Amino acid sequence: MHKSLLPLAFTTSTLATLQSCPSDLPLSCHNTTTIPSSDACCFNAPGGTLLQTQFWDYDPAIGPADSWTIHGLWPDNCDGTYQQYCDTSREYKNITSILQSQGRDDLLSYMKTYWQDYEGDDESFWEHEFGKHGTCINTIKPSCYNDYTPQQEVGDYFQKTVDLFKGLDTYKALADANITPDSSKTYELSAVKKALASLHGGYEPHIGCSDGALSEVWYFFNVRGNAIDGEYEPTETLSETQCPDTVKYPPKSS
Ligand SMILES: *[C@@H]1O[C@H](CO)[C@@H](O)[C@H](O)[C@H]1NC(C)=O
Ligand SMILES: *[C@@H]1O[C@H](CO)[C@@H](O)[C@H](O)[C@H]1NC(C)=O
Repeated sequence: MHKSLLPLAFTTSTLATLQSCPSDLPLSCHNTTTIPSSDACCFNAPGGTLLQTQFWDYDPAIGPADSWTIHGLWPDNCDGTYQQYCDTSREYKNITSILQSQGRDDLLSYMKTYWQDYEGDDESFWEHEFGKHGTCINTIKPSCYNDYTPQQEVGDYFQKTVDLFKGLDTYKALADANITPDSSKTYELSAVKKALASLHGGYEPHIGCSDGALSEVWYFFNVRGNAIDGEYEPTETLSETQCPDTVKYPPKSS
């Protein structure tokens, strides 16, 4: 009778999976008919555009001097408008504990370096990102999981965001085009766009500026399948840049 206790102890740390998705569903934002409700967990809607967003925070300097940092993963509607705070019951105040309870210590340690809050309160920044944006990704609702374990989608959201970020090394793409942080130089915005498009299937991301200096970049994707296991395809920005034609790229002071 005691034997059953051991396997149970193990199952609490086994993470559930999302329903598997048929491969013939359309890419998000590219459907010509309504998706049947039986496939709703395999089709991102209305937030069919997923944005991996990043910061260049140089004053005060946030994160490593040779890397941009993570802002979040946002579902936008296919026209660039967006939903927010979609489920108040899942605005968790314990992201760190959730990730720890799921055995995601490596993820957490990565986030402490690359997903930092500019005021030093990482936990509340992560809470904000999941509560405002993560709850609006329809394909990671608890009901989309087989054998859902509480807050599974939270861990999946943060892991997926980090995985996408790792494939979008903005610093390196710019450096490869000889665009490096330098307090005495300026760069053509067109050269920045070109360097970043090369990282993103030829599609220019949205570039944000603050006081004429690069400050943010948003990479837009459409997805085939759910937001975790699905295939992310780069797509064009839905948001016009307000940057000047010539931009600054200040080094992170320390
Ligand atoms: C695409 O699918 C979504 C979700 O089913 C639906 O709301 C939307 O109207 C569809 N778009 C078109 C053009 O049929
Ligand atoms: C996190 O908070 C939620 C909501 O209060 C709670 O249900 C859950 O048990 C907490 N998880 C952990 C690991 O603390």
